[in-house]
Amino acid sequence: MILLDDVVKYYPGDKEPALKHVSLHIQPKEFVFLVGQSGAGKSTLIKMLTREEVPTSGRIMVGGIDYEYMKRRHIPHLRRRLGVVFQDYKLLPNRTAYENVAFALEIVGVSNAEIRRTVPKVLELVGLADKGHKFPSELSGGERQRVAIARSMARQPKILIADEPTGNLDVETSQGIVHLLEEINNFGTTILVTTHDENIVNQLRKRVVTLRHGEIVGDQKNNGHYDLDGFRSKIIKRPLANSTSHLATGTPQPTEEPKEEQPIIHASSNRVRVATPKTPTPAAEPKPRAPKRRFIN
Ligand SMILES: Nc1ncnc2c1ncn2[C@@H]1O[C@H](COP(=O)(O)OP(=O)(O)OP(=O)(O)O)[C@@H](O)[C@H]1O
Ligand SMILES: [Mg+2]
Repeated sequence: MILLDDVVKYYPGDKEPALKHVSLHIQPKEFVFLVGQSGAGKSTLIKMLTREEVPTSGRIMVGGIDYEYMKRRHIPHLRRRLGVVFQDYKLLPNRTAYENVAFALEIVGVSNAEIRRTVPKVLELVGLADKGHKFPSELSGGERQRVAIARSMARQPKILIADEPTGNLDVETSQGIVHLLEEINNFGTTILVTTHDENIVNQLRKRVVTLRHGEIVGDQKNNGHYDLDGFRSKIIKRPLANSTSHLATGTPQPTEEPKEEQPIIHASSNRVRVATPKTPTPAAEPKPRAPKRRFIN
């Protein structure tokens, strides 16, 4: 689950906030496009979730972790829950595709034997089984982005966030990347993608959230279209004073990593197989707050 509650973000020295009272709730397993004009605040919202930036005010929870109470020791839990993919891939240039993926596992202490089993499976998942030996400079843009997705998926995150993952790619390659994200979503991973790609958004008809000047002006929950003005799902604002947010009373910090359904890339089999465990896990996340805003589709 991703939850932003009344999040405001001012960058130092700015008179206008980059995010104005943004409230957004994304359920597990949803696929959400975040759209908006350049400067609307999409990357800022993503950076709130990845903790690259800290909100000026408001509450953020991701995968059961309340950022307000997040201690340094919770950060590895967050990193395991959250895969992040960027427009410019951010691959290590002097490591091969295989090593880039392996590195993401090494830094969280995965054993060498497990790495040797997992990396080929994840490269296969993104269609690069035969390109593991290549350096990023020897790969096409689409292939580099696939390596970046493989790297973010290797730790089996529950949530994958991608900030313009197709921004540098041609139409066909972009479609391949988005279909890969769709496939990963079908395995049970929550996906949040920012994009300027109208065609892809209109093709996939997923949930579409529109940001404009730092505000959410549209939230098409189903069958969404690319809509920069939010006219398709005009939001009627309710007075904040009527809010009955449970978050306002504070949520205890997690004492251990909250448990959730976890998709599993079975590294021990010869095939890539992604499954979700059947056993229900205790609800570690607090219930989402009552919506402050009403959406009309
Ligand atoms: N590090 C920063 N310091 C100061 N201002 C920033 C910073 N990053 C972004 N901003 C400002 O915040 C606003 C939102 O920027 P943001 O990068 O979130 O937009 P965006 O929707 O991702 O745009 P794009 O589609 O061009 O990527 C802009 O006015 C931008 O100038
Ligand atoms: Mg951006």
